[in-house]
This record gives sequence, structure tokens and C-alpha cells, in this order.
Amino acid sequence: MIQGHGGNKSKLAGQLGCRVEDIIDMSCNLNPLGPPENIHAIIRERLSAIHSLPEPDAASMCRGFARYHDIDPKNVMAGNGTTFFIYTIPRALYVKKAVIAAPAYSDYRDACRMHGIDPVHCLAKKEQNFQLDIDKVSGMAKGADLVFLCNPNNPTGVLTPKDKIAYLIKRHPNTCFVVDESYLPFVEDARNLSFVEDTHYPNLLVLSSMSKIFKIPGLRTGFLSGGTALIDKVMGHYQPWSVNSLAQEVITDIFAHPQAIESFYQRTRAYIHEEKQVFSQALQGISGISLFDAPTYFILAELDRMTASDFCRAIGRDKILIRDCGNFHGLSNRFVRFSLKTRDINLALADSIKKNLAPGTADHV
Ligand SMILES: Cc1ncc(COP(=O)(O)O)c(C=O)c1O
Repeated sequence: MIQGHGGNKSKLAGQLGCRVEDIIDMSCNLNPLGPPENIHAIIRERLSAIHSLPEPDAASMCRGFARYHDIDPKNVMAGNGTTFFIYTIPRALYVKKAVIAAPAYSDYRDACRMHGIDPVHCLAKKEQNFQLDIDKVSGMAKGADLVFLCNPNNPTGVLTPKDKIAYLIKRHPNTCFVVDESYLPFVEDARNLSFVEDTHYPNLLVLSSMSKIFKIPGLRTGFLSGGTALIDKVMGHYQPWSVNSLAQEVITDIFAHPQAIESFYQRTRAYIHEEKQVFSQALQGISGISLFDAPTYFILAELDRMTASDFCRAIGRDKILIRDCGNFHGLSNRFVRFSLKTRDINLALADSIKKNLAPGTADHV
């Protein structure tokens, strides 16, 4: 199974001999504003739903998502997180040759390997701020069955303009492009950047995670949208009741209130914008670390004088968990990622970074 996710709070708590609840987890990319206020109330109200089987294909929640995006429900599937689709697509499409625009979320690679596919990585360069090299992806997409592309990308935060991705999709009609938009709702103008409504492309599948934006990773919900022929192929590998009753109730309710979603997105974006500014100011003038500019609330950083593992260990002593990015294909052991939370937590991280990068403290490289 899976290697290299963030969020291992119990491991750090064990090392420090403290309680898991005392660890601040900035290694996981979840909405720093928190979930929509009414989620707990919905769960309390609908708790008895667990005594019945859910809809086998989560049809109601698919209809809600489709209505919100003004697409046909037959172009939508719901899964146990987008993870369900990342691991199902290579098998459902009988993929032999896969390309991953990297550095990227490692489950694309793990999913390919689970199905006996050895994917090739199309690496974006640090010198180009990890911008997607469209010509290079295009060259590698030739003859490939599948291309995984994350927008905005995890862990770099890079947002690729829609027309560049559209160019690839049109240029390679025999290649299926999986565009992972799990972090797109955090970005201004997300609706115009998104491919969810572009179901006319026969070689495009879009992943939309509910875990990140609504801060409900434990409910395990995500959507796949795309052209009907591809959706039907993936549906052929769908297991009934893949989304549990409570998850279906919550997501159906969320999408029944589109105005509340819009206002939640706006509040999230404004919050991130402000907290990023405060955080960057707190780190101004600090040497030994470079932050990569991105529209996301998670930030990729490169260290000059410390390895990522030493740095994470040092920050961990302040009970803050950040992501060592050394195991991302295409990044070295000098990269870390942290995901902003509330202001006091972000400033605590800034203080810890300053303390641990102060001259004389980073001599253990
Ligand atoms: C880029 C990206 N896609 C998909 C996922 C999977 O999320 P979920 O299965 O909760 O939808 C993650 C989780 O971290 C992610 O970072």
C-alpha cells in the first residue's frame, strides 16, 4: 500500500512522549477556516441514516454536484474520496503507459504501480518555479494511455492556466487526461479555471475532492466527472455502497444550498489571502529558507542549510508537524511543505522556523 502521506501525528507524539491532541498538524492540506458551520448539525440530525443502506451509487449526491455545476448527472460519479478514483482509473481504462506531471501527489504513482504500470514522470524544474512545461508533457503524452495532472498542484501549489491544459487534451485525443482539481475551490475564479463543466471532451476525467475544501477527510467523499464513455468505463469497476450513508447525507445537503457554498468559498479565499500575507511578513528577511509563490494555502519551501528531515525534526520539537517532501519524485531532501492554519498557529510556525534557522542552529547538515 501507500507510502509517504503526511499527517502522522501519533508517530510524532510517540517520539515526543506527548498526547496526539497536543500536536499541531500542518502537514495535511485542509481548509484552514474549518468546515462549513452546519456540518456537525447535519451529522447529528441524520445519524439514524447509518441504520439503512445508502444509495448504492450515491445518486442523490451526484445529482446535487451535477446541478451545482450545471452538467448532466450521467457525467458524474461519487467515490470514497477521490482516492477511490485515483486507484480505480488505471485498472478501469486498462492503462499500460502512464505519465505523471511531477513533482506530484504520490498516490498517482502508487495507484499505477498497484496495477503493474511503471509510470514515467514529467518533471517540472525548480529553476522555472515548477511551472508545468507544456511542450515536455505533450511530448511524453504521445502514445500514453493516461496523464495525471494536478491543478493547482500538490505539493508545488503551481496553477496552470486552463488554456494550456485544454491544448494538451485536444492535442492528444487518444490519451486520457485526469485533471485533479482537489485544491481548485481555494483559488479565486475557480469556476472559470475548472474543467468540471467541460464534459464534452471525450478524453478528460476530473477529480474533485470534498475532503480539502470542506475539511471532512474522515467522511471520505469525492467526485469524478467527465465524458459519458469514460465515466461508464470507470462505473464498470464501481463497488456498490462505496460512499457511506452519513457522507451521502452531508454532501447532498451541502449541494442543496449553492449560495452557501459560494459564500463559504469566498470566505475561505479571503481568509487564506490575509493569513498568507501575515505569515509571509512574519518570515520576512529570514535567510536559509525560500518559499515558492503559489495561490494555495499550502506552501512549498526549500532549505539552504538544513535537510528536510533535520528541519522537520527541529520544528517537531515545538509539537508542529510539517511535511518532509524528500520522498516526492522530483524534489530533493531540501524541500518541505506546510499548510497554513489559524493565525496563532501560523505565527507559532513562523517563530519555530526563525528559531531553528537562526545562524548557528543549522550546523547538522
Ligand atoms: C492532490 C490530491 N488529490 C487527491 C487526494 C485524495 O483526497 P481524498 O481521497 O480525500 O479526496 C489528495 C489528498 O491529500 C491530494 O493531495
